[in-house]
Amino acid sequence: MTSSYYVTTPIYYVNGAPHIGHAYTSIAADVLARFLRLDGRDVFFLTGTDEHGQKVEKAAAEAGVDPQTFADRVSADFRDMAARMGVSNDDFIRTTEQRHRDACAAFWQVLRDRGDIYLGAYEGWYAVRDEAFYDEDELTQRADGTRIAPSGAPVEWVREPSYFFRLSRYQDKLLAHYAANPDFILPAGRRNEVVSFVRGGLQDLSVSRTSFRWGIPVPGDPAHVMYVWLDALLNYLTATGWPDPAAPRARYWPADLHVVGKEIVRFHAVYWPAFLMAAGVALPRRVYSHGWWTVEGEKMSKSLGNVIDPRELADTYGLDALRYFLLREVPFGNDGDFSRRALVTRLNVELANDLGNLAQRTLSLIARNCAGRLPARAVPTEADATLLDAAAALPAALRARMERPAFGEALEEVWRVIRAANAYIDHQAPWALRRTDPARMAAVLRVLADVLRVIATVLQPFMPDSMARMLDQLGVPTEGAASRSFVGLAAPLAEGTALPPPAGVFPRFVEPGA
Ligand code: MSP
Repeated sequence: MTSSYYVTTPIYYVNGAPHIGHAYTSIAADVLARFLRLDGRDVFFLTGTDEHGQKVEKAAAEAGVDPQTFADRVSADFRDMAARMGVSNDDFIRTTEQRHRDACAAFWQVLRDRGDIYLGAYEGWYAVRDEAFYDEDELTQRADGTRIAPSGAPVEWVREPSYFFRLSRYQDKLLAHYAANPDFILPAGRRNEVVSFVRGGLQDLSVSRTSFRWGIPVPGDPAHVMYVWLDALLNYLTATGWPDPAAPRARYWPADLHVVGKEIVRFHAVYWPAFLMAAGVALPRRVYSHGWWTVEGEKMSKSLGNVIDPRELADTYGLDALRYFLLREVPFGNDGDFSRRALVTRLNVELANDLGNLAQRTLSLIARNCAGRLPARAVPTEADATLLDAAAALPAALRARMERPAFGEALEEVWRVIRAANAYIDHQAPWALRRTDPARMAAVLRVLADVLRVIATVLQPFMPDSMARMLDQLGVPTEGAASRSFVGLAAPLAEGTALPPPAGVFPRFVEPGA
């Protein structure tokens, strides 16, 4: 295993404001990036905006501004969303940047030189909303004769000169790659869909357009702009400094993981590896497809007016509760429904009650009965050892879950220990030991503090702010290279460490007016 790790989000179209679906992809990638950093890996985490193409050009025209001004505005809004969601990206790429134009031109040239691009004419269906070409047999026809893509997007007939990429050459190579790398596309259901799509045959792909201008010009033929998906996918390479092998970030390629929504798997798992094979560039190691959120049971749409700004949710319920909910509510890969009520339930039950109360009970007993100082470790009883061992096993258990990544399973591992710790505190009843056996009370509270330290440490990637506060309250130093990382757990906290006064980390959410 390499010590470096490169994880990406899709780059977001700048045709409209960020919503909860975008936040989801970014938060998922962020949790993984933070987890790996905590585990000592050298992580490069990339996000950004996809700014060219007909769809953005159209949105700009509707807003009455030129595409660049429009893209600047919306891209800034996505950057703000990422910051407000606690996304710890190392770079934010915009496809209108010069570094990206240069990389695209260089890549095009390689494909040309290798004979995988030729000039022809495209005639067929195109959906601007998806920025995708469709075959006749993929479409459904409405009563009024209009045709609709599987995504529900309307399609239009396009006929124009176009450069083509020889995708048809890569069918067998792609199938061989999927077979040799069964985890290249996850989850497995998505892989099967891709495999059957590719088995069904691949036609050459139109990779340039002439009917509009908002794109990267084709080198040597500026009447054409590059197909926006070729342009967009290349962002992952651009950010590593490709084609310069001496670029500081060249070491991050190939990417370890592209996190993508299920509707863009085909681009990432078919076109993208084919482009890379054609250019002789190493393929990313994995494409993980997550599902889609509906909102209160309905598809999110501007016309329904139910598009949720994740920033509003973070303001109302707390960012960490939102991050936790999104990764806990549905297994990564499945579709889910976002509802405020479900979020509040998880916040009140799992965060405020299960975890928050456990910490609050432990810390206030230490404050009251141990003069606010961390008790010494004692020789563990069997019950102590069972709980301590379960906690100590968490980093490895999470590492195994995050490898895919399976965020919900990782959280379930942690909650198993939280539930065991709650059972332990109830059973040991340290509040009663205060009179009968103060030494045992101190030992029990120390076990709980140690277990809480592990829990808060491994939960940092999911809930950075609240877990930092919990670690503060547990007296875990912030300085000292890795005191809050996994390796830091090996060094026990000194007995007698003075703890700050305990303060609740997850207040229960009470409906306004309730
Ligand atoms: N620009 C392309 C990606 C290019 S990557 C080289 C694009 N952009 S997007 O803005 O439309 O979508 C970006 C991500 O947001 C996708 O992963 C998509 O799945 C996700 N979501 C958008 N709406 C969503 C939901 N309702 N639910 C979950 N995620 C969804 O596609």
